[in-house]
Amino acid sequence: MTTLLLHLSDVDEARWAEAYRSALPDVTVVRQSEPHDAAKVDYIFVWKPKADAFDGLTHLKAVLSLGAGVDALLKHPSLPDAPIVRYVDARLTRQMSDYVVAQVTMHHRLFTRFKRGQIARTWKQFYPPDSANTNVGVMGLGVLGADAAQKLKGLGFSVLGWSRSPKTIDGLRTFPGDQLDAFLAETDILCCLLPLTPDTTGILNYELFRKLRRNLEGGPVIVNAARGGHQVETDIVRALADGTLAAASLDVFQSEPLSPDSPLWAFDNAYLTPHIAAISNIEAGVRYFSQIVRDHEAGKPLRNVVDPGRGY
Ligand code: NDP
Ligand code: OXD
Repeated sequence: MTTLLLHLSDVDEARWAEAYRSALPDVTVVRQSEPHDAAKVDYIFVWKPKADAFDGLTHLKAVLSLGAGVDALLKHPSLPDAPIVRYVDARLTRQMSDYVVAQVTMHHRLFTRFKRGQIARTWKQFYPPDSANTNVGVMGLGVLGADAAQKLKGLGFSVLGWSRSPKTIDGLRTFPGDQLDAFLAETDILCCLLPLTPDTTGILNYELFRKLRRNLEGGPVIVNAARGGHQVETDIVRALADGTLAAASLDVFQSEPLSPDSPLWAFDNAYLTPHIAAISNIEAGVRYFSQIVRDHEAGKPLRNVVDPGRGY
């Protein structure tokens, strides 16, 4: 009998177990706290695995990651040498694109400026540019970045995309890895949907902000919904304070939860959310991973497998 072990921290593991048990009646589903023979575990479903999560799992067929991003998992000191399948789901993708579209349209319509006017009770007209003349640059053109970019394009923005390898996407101007500066030089609103890897750590820094185009009233804007490790928060604070950036929307932080002492909270041009841009849903997650298990048990290849060498 196939065994699936659940090892989830900070989420309701009992609910996930119940949902898996009804979706996979032919599979033994066990929680980390329940008695089980580690050597008989075929699949482990993880979120924020503890240090001992993989102990004794000598016959693992795959690690199933509740997270779409696997940067923390890849750093686990006892990560077994089994394929890692990450979460890819249409609902998660839609949520992320909703977040990105909400932030981009807010900044395009200069809400920071109008909010300041409202607080000061001043009637001052600023003129948002035509969306066709507003360049939105999306860093990362994977599952999430490509969808957000296409939705922004559909709203009439001029959309640019940057990815490690060259890409052709209908209606987008794309830039490969070595053309970052050319991409930044044409970007008014920068959206980060990169995975966190050694190459992308700290990429959202002051030097990069200075390379952005300054066509938007007040200056360029950044939106980061990927990982806090992409951003240098002291540089964001400096850039928001000195006008290098007009505004920033941040869903993720170098350390989460964001400390009450962070200077970011005080900026009226910083839009902070507590890592909720796209949240995994139990029904959709169980449907997706149950199908992965069923397919793999039927001899089909795993899909959405992480490449540990690339780091995503
Ligand atoms: P994908 O793996 O599908 O896409 C990654 C993209 O980034 C690819 O286009 C890849 O290029 C590009 N990329 C990777 N490294 C580089 C680099 N060094 N230079 C330029 N481009 C690079 O990831 P997803 O779209 O599924 O997810 C992106 C991230 O979003 C996740 O890793 C996670 O951290 C974050 N996330 C955040 C959530 C939230 O709630 N805030 C929720 C879910 C995910 P190429 O196409 O050439 O491989
Ligand atoms: C994820 C996340 O990677 O929630 O799925 O950040």
